[in-house]
Amino acid sequence: MKGSLLYEGKAKRVYVTTDDQERLVLSYKDDATAFNGKKKSEFAGKGRLNNLITSKVFQYLHKQGIPTHFIEALNDTEQLVKRTTIIPLEVVVRNKAAGSITKRLGIEEKTRFHPPIIELFYKKDELNDPLINDVHAYHLTDVKEQELTFIKEQAMIINEQLIALFQSAGLELADFKLEFGRLPDGTIVLSDEVSPDTCRLWDIKTGQKMDKDVFREEIGSLIEVYENILQRLEENVCAK
Ligand code: TMP
Ligand code: ASP
Repeated sequence: MKGSLLYEGKAKRVYVTTDDQERLVLSYKDDATAFNGKKKSEFAGKGRLNNLITSKVFQYLHKQGIPTHFIEALNDTEQLVKRTTIIPLEVVVRNKAAGSITKRLGIEEKTRFHPPIIELFYKKDELNDPLINDVHAYHLTDVKEQELTFIKEQAMIINEQLIALFQSAGLELADFKLEFGRLPDGTIVLSDEVSPDTCRLWDIKTGQKMDKDVFREEIGSLIEVYENILQRLEENVCAK
């Protein structure tokens, strides 16, 4: 059963469970933020869509043999997960240039990266989540060299699997962000969410942006786009 609130983030609330201290309930909010919280809004139904999309994606990853913190969706907006201690790193994988890398390095949007680029950002709101390197990560977090190698290998495998998943839904995966956490026994597993909030997805036929860029750039209806992603995944994941 859902217990008391443990933590509130920008997009989710985290609750303890009263019957098992190794499980948590994640409750997805309708809030949308961008640019480190400087741009904010609320979209009725967004929490449900991100919960259901993340649940589909994590179920698919489990079928591909990727361990994650996900246990099950409990209802429209909540999911049961294994308790992890999040490693405060944002692991970004880029197949095509978009967002911060276009501005930081002057690379034109849609430029292909082969092999994909992995970037690490330090999760620290007060510092605006700065880009860091591996040695910074060893200094700033408890992650060890072998563990970071494992995390990057996992990120590359997950990238291949997500590319295939979204491709079958008519979507190109330009980039995405992952977070990893430690289970009580120290094992590192994929945690947090995989949703249009944390991925850039482009319609293969039209090139239309179908993710949080719709909100960042004010170029359409976020709910319509997220609803469309869920529908496409429901049609395709079932077949996988
Ligand atoms: P970026 O272009 O802003 O660096 O973002 C790269 C990818 O990571 C993009 O798919 C959005 C995602 N992302 C998050 O999920 N959370 C964040 O806080 C940031 C900065 C990016
Ligand atoms: N999600 C982050 C924030 O709320 C940044 C972003 O995705 O643009 O600040």
